[in-house]
Amino acid sequence: MAQLEQIAAPGSEWWRSAVIYQIYPRSFADASGDGIGDLPGITSRLDSLKDLGIDAIWLSPFMTSPQHDAGYDVADYRDVDPLFGTLADFDEMLAQAHARGIRVIVDLVPNHSSDQHPWFQEALKAGPGSPERARYVFRDGRGKNGELPPNNWESVFGGGMWERVVEADGTPGQWYLHIFDATQPDFDWTNEEVKEEFRSILRFWLDRGVDGFRVDVAHGMVKEAGLPDYAPVADADSMGGNDEDVPYWGQDGVHDIYRDWHQLLAEYDGDRALCGEAWLPTLKQTALWVRPDEMHQTFNFPYLMTAWDAKALGDVIRESLDEFGKVGAPSTWVLSNHDTVRHTTRLAATRLPHGEGIGPKTPNKPAPEISLARGRAATTLMLALPGSAYLYQGEELGLPEAMEIPDEFRQDPTWFRTEGKRYGRDGCRVPLPWEADAPAFGFNDTGLSWLPQPAEWAEYARDAESSDPTSTLALYKELLAARREHGFGNGSLIWEDAGKDAVAFRRGDVHVVANLGTKPLPLPAGATVILKSQPFDGDALPVDTAVWYTTA
Ligand code: BGC
Repeated sequence: MAQLEQIAAPGSEWWRSAVIYQIYPRSFADASGDGIGDLPGITSRLDSLKDLGIDAIWLSPFMTSPQHDAGYDVADYRDVDPLFGTLADFDEMLAQAHARGIRVIVDLVPNHSSDQHPWFQEALKAGPGSPERARYVFRDGRGKNGELPPNNWESVFGGGMWERVVEADGTPGQWYLHIFDATQPDFDWTNEEVKEEFRSILRFWLDRGVDGFRVDVAHGMVKEAGLPDYAPVADADSMGGNDEDVPYWGQDGVHDIYRDWHQLLAEYDGDRALCGEAWLPTLKQTALWVRPDEMHQTFNFPYLMTAWDAKALGDVIRESLDEFGKVGAPSTWVLSNHDTVRHTTRLAATRLPHGEGIGPKTPNKPAPEISLARGRAATTLMLALPGSAYLYQGEELGLPEAMEIPDEFRQDPTWFRTEGKRYGRDGCRVPLPWEADAPAFGFNDTGLSWLPQPAEWAEYARDAESSDPTSTLALYKELLAARREHGFGNGSLIWEDAGKDAVAFRRGDVHVVANLGTKPLPLPAGATVILKSQPFDGDALPVDTAVWYTTA
């Protein structure tokens, strides 16, 4: 780990300031050529990530899974799905990443397993009242013969949150809870065996040398006692709903679990870290996940969900620094991930309820030029902020959402469970373009791709962008190098006033300003621009543009 120590500033844990790049393994690079990315593919492309200048990677799940929710339905938490390779491939990828000074975080999915997990299969066989069923949330149904679900909760992916089982004697039986797809039964986190099993899973991956975990659905693992009825009042903007008081999100009981895990991680060297995927409607609530004895980081989803509006953006940054600061945690920043419309498209779109996505029939699709300009400006601002930042694979190429995926290729359970009412998340999951003139744009050498790649993605291919100094890739490299050089991951900022249409602050002697208005914004006399989100001439900052500058 000698090389890794140089990454963190002395005396501070690496995760406080790290730029962490999310790899969605099925869409990153495909060494086997079957159309689905894999671990050897990741290993083969690590040099390009080193060259980009990130500090760590987070891998979405690659564990054994029937892939009903792209791997977020785990059947064996201690093995690699053959689609992605083997445990030996994982060890090799980890060693190669560490050799390049890149830390590795893996995804842990503790809220639910796959229905193919041996425990769930045992629970089905064992019947009501058994210790096997007690590991999941089984309940008798309501109604005369138990024919109605135990409560009225609605699955995040659409439809009800309960599935009825057929008992061993062939009669309709109990119901089990699934916040997501029916193939993803929720664990009962009041059950000691579940707690012990996950301690052992954490140790399994820590012993292999991972640097931490991104904890899936970290806000959903504990449900309100008695499972009271609750129906969301309107389409939820996020996976945490719009209300603060949802009986399956953000329950107090989750915090004891994280305190336990915090201590377990602390037994290991190297500042191993937990990052929570906790979708909660307010930053005040979100900050509870990163109190000093709980998780180390949590995703800043209120920031991700903020529209392209100067006041809203300034406010959410202020509140983030304030709320996370109160508990002594770094803020994190994130604009895109595998569950949301890519920010290069989203920031020019109107409101998108969670999981709605954009598809062929969506009216008024965002214009690509506006989207890309806003996306680049947003990132230029984000990478100047103190704290840790998450990037999602492909954003460094400026990839837009794939908005024309034909219905027959769709795979997101949201699409199926809403009978096509919501397109879901496939549009941000399309395999990456590496080479403009190669089969599948260099994703593999067979030309296969589990989701179709838009033809116009040739212009976003990494090799094409590598030789273009004005490309989004060139911008990301510049930003990451300058962020490191100036130590912007640590420290604090000073707000500046550049008018109501701008977000502006100072980091040391570097001024950062983004123009979210409709008119060019004059830069101060004597400003020397050191970095700009897109090329421009003259001394006024164009709309949808951000700069870093110094003054004499
Ligand atoms: C993951 C999603 C997944 C869901 C269920 C989320 O938070 O990021 O991709 O569908 O959890 O595991």
